[in-house]
Amino acid sequence: MTEYVRIAIEQGVLTLTLNRPDKKNALNIAMYSALANAMVKAETDPAVRSMLIQAEGGAFTSGNDLADFAAVAAGTLKREDMTSGAFLSALARAQKPLVIAAQGLAVGIGVTMLLHADMVFVTEDAMLTTPFVNLGLVPEAASSMLLPARIGYARAYQMFALGEPMDGLTAAAIGLATAAVPASDLRATASAAAKKLAAKPIGALKAMKRLLRDPEIIQAAMNRESEVFGARLKTPEAAEAFKAFAERRAPDFSKFN
Ligand code: COA
Repeated sequence: MTEYVRIAIEQGVLTLTLNRPDKKNALNIAMYSALANAMVKAETDPAVRSMLIQAEGGAFTSGNDLADFAAVAAGTLKREDMTSGAFLSALARAQKPLVIAAQGLAVGIGVTMLLHADMVFVTEDAMLTTPFVNLGLVPEAASSMLLPARIGYARAYQMFALGEPMDGLTAAAIGLATAAVPASDLRATASAAAKKLAAKPIGALKAMKRLLRDPEIIQAAMNRESEVFGARLKTPEAAEAFKAFAERRAPDFSKFN
């Protein structure tokens, strides 16, 4: 079976590599589980001092697997059986430093997970998109709180409501990313940062992170969003958006009011 997430520990760095490039690294149940389990285990593994998430192929991730969303909407998959919640909790509760390297397309959770990374490296030509509203949904991963906090309400509203891509250079300029780098430098830059962090006193890093980000407040925001998100998944607006994607056509929301 294809290993959709490759896991390696080297020089104190846990590296998680998304490896489903033929589907633009769309995140399915197996991938969320693998990511969540590895991150939770890393918290108590003395061999891990920092974590790095990166991806194979030209796209970082096209976000949640839309077939899974469609299955929840159709009632053939239980929301509780989607393991995205476990991954989100692992992001909210991670104490060890997390670095993310994102190239090309980053969609949905591909953007909102960046808000949980302590250092974010994107390619200059990255395209960051949060199309929740376009899918009839609402933002998740505590992004309704973290994105306005990071880039201001006006920019966050625009990103969420219009779902238009933001390029990597802009993301770095407004503080959504630590830095934008040429694609050929991405892996090396992110890896060097993760190694640098791995050499720091981990007790101080953890204590600092806890002061910067309160996991309980983040988890509470996730829980609030999750309730609305779950209800939205069952709406005719969302059903039309998922059907349109499967049929490779533009959605028509004009019949809903
Ligand atoms: N879920 C499931 N499959 C996905 C996917 C997703 N989120 N994103 C891409 N794929 C699949 C496509 O169905 C296609 O599969 P196929 O080759 O079996 O037909 C393959 O990945 C390649 O995608 P394609 O759409 O042909 O590539 P593209 O370069 O033209 O467009 C995207 C890339 C990401 C812009 C487009 O695929 C897209 O809009 N995906 C949905 C993104 C999304 O809304 N995610 C949820 C956010 S909450």
